[in-house]
Amino acid sequence: MGGVRCLPLLCQVLWLHQDAVELESMEVQKFYRSMRAAGGLIAALLVLGQVVGNAAAPDDVLAARRGWRWLTTKAYLPPDFDQQVFDNLWQHWEEPARTAAEQATPEERRRLTFSRYGLTENPDRPEGVALQYVANGNGGWSMNCLACHTGKVAGKVVLGAPNSLYALQTLTDDVRLTKLPLGKPFAHMDKGALLYPLGGSIGTTNAVMFGKILMTYRDPDLGVHVRGLPTGLLHHDHDAPAWWNVKKKKRLYADAFVPKNHRAIMQFLLIPSNGPDKFRAWEKEYRDILAWIEAVEAPRFPWPVDGELARAGEHVFRSHCAECHGTYGSASSYPERVIPIDEIGTDRVRFDSLDADSRGAYAGSWFTRLDELETVLEPKGYVAPPLDGIWASAPYLHNGSVPTLWHLFHPAQRPVVWQRDEDGYDRERVGLTVRARDELPADATDPRQKRRYFDTRLPGKSAQGHDFPDRLSPDEKRQVLEYLKTL
Ligand code: HEC
Ligand code: HEC
Repeated sequence: MGGVRCLPLLCQVLWLHQDAVELESMEVQKFYRSMRAAGGLIAALLVLGQVVGNAAAPDDVLAARRGWRWLTTKAYLPPDFDQQVFDNLWQHWEEPARTAAEQATPEERRRLTFSRYGLTENPDRPEGVALQYVANGNGGWSMNCLACHTGKVAGKVVLGAPNSLYALQTLTDDVRLTKLPLGKPFAHMDKGALLYPLGGSIGTTNAVMFGKILMTYRDPDLGVHVRGLPTGLLHHDHDAPAWWNVKKKKRLYADAFVPKNHRAIMQFLLIPSNGPDKFRAWEKEYRDILAWIEAVEAPRFPWPVDGELARAGEHVFRSHCAECHGTYGSASSYPERVIPIDEIGTDRVRFDSLDADSRGAYAGSWFTRLDELETVLEPKGYVAPPLDGIWASAPYLHNGSVPTLWHLFHPAQRPVVWQRDEDGYDRERVGLTVRARDELPADATDPRQKRRYFDTRLPGKSAQGHDFPDRLSPDEKRQVLEYLKTL
């Protein structure tokens, strides 16, 4: 079918009705083969960071290790594209990127391709699919959770760090452009992107709305139906939270409306070709995946810290910030407080985008049936997140609108439009190295170029609010900034 050629428009119509290719059984066999050869993966875990802490009970360690393997070897979604499409993407880039790729060696071109979309090499299969995808056994690349939940910080891969370079919309746009002349079918992501935005700037996605849209087509037992279309969609971009903080939480998401459990994290799999049977069959694997997520440790700030300044900062933090963000160190505590939306004052589109009906649909579904905690139908605002490893999860706030902690501490100086560089890290301001602007440059006309700029004037992307640090004196701000490096 991949080789069939037809007129592009006709192809699209036909493919819109074509079911996703199911390669599940093949994938499982491949997974068990790779389990036998798992030494390499465990080595990768050790190389990439001591993810599985020593204090955990052996069962947890084993579950977490299995979780890592499910994440990196099993395709839970149909492939988005195949190797041939991946290798040809550059031909459809805007200039000057296209010419640069044309003149590059194949290795360099692969590096350029990874860089453009925010992908990183999987140390266990350096020449294979990126860490953010899984090989489906048939040349296909299937997206995995790491697409949004693992990326580079200061040029190095940090497991569980939000992938602040992931360019899902640009990748999908380029994939469609590449598939058309090759006569390849559109996958679910290509089709979805024709109807809904995937993400307006690199590093952020419309993930919350994906979930809302996909739930429209499910009954409470997750049976698929086509009664009604999604309504009241408030598209917006969200910056994924760092996974190393999940262990501290009882509830998930920016407004903490969902009780944490392994089912909750399966929402990402709701595409119609995954029927209710799949959710039940995969449930135990997602227990392992949650175990892995909860074993991820926050990375340490890798550069020198001024100990005296940081100690002074800890005092200031305790009196001005701890009531919401908790305490750290040996006697750590995390209150998991949800702050009313008007008090926190940050962008409210995410808050408004889930109404009581959509939260109710979730509350009445299979996802919640093992919860001790209730799903919150009318949350008051946003949760104050734990700040462990905060240096590594820039940009800040739930929508990723503030590039450094310094800017978070100086609300009046937050940039209107900013552009980051890929691997730079601002140790002074703690966060991304950015170039601030008042406007997008006039030559950024292609939407794919525009997405390289974070424009806080767009809906859902404002950098307002969380003015609490503004109450501190300039000295206190410097002290707290130094202290945050130690978390
Ligand atoms: C397209 C990007 C994307 C993909 C892929 C993705 N997520 Fe997420 N994830 C997000 C975003 C954005 C949020 C924040 C949503 C919110 O707070 O409302 C999130 C939130 C979460 C949270 C809650 C974290 C917290 O602190 O509250 C967990 C856990 C999580 N995702 C797990 C997963 C798992 C497991 C997968 C794969 C099955 C996955 N995600 C795939 C974007 C993604
Ligand atoms: C009244 C409660 C409250 C107080 C006080 C408070 N914060 Fe926050 N903080 C929040 C909430 C809620 C958020 C999430 C806002 C959002 O994402 O829109 C947040 C977000 C943050 C973030 C960004 C987290 C991320 O992952 O992007 C940082 C950093 C932060 N706060 C630091 C501080 C510091 C430092 C202080 C003390 C000077 C402080 N906060 C005081 C409630 C508070």
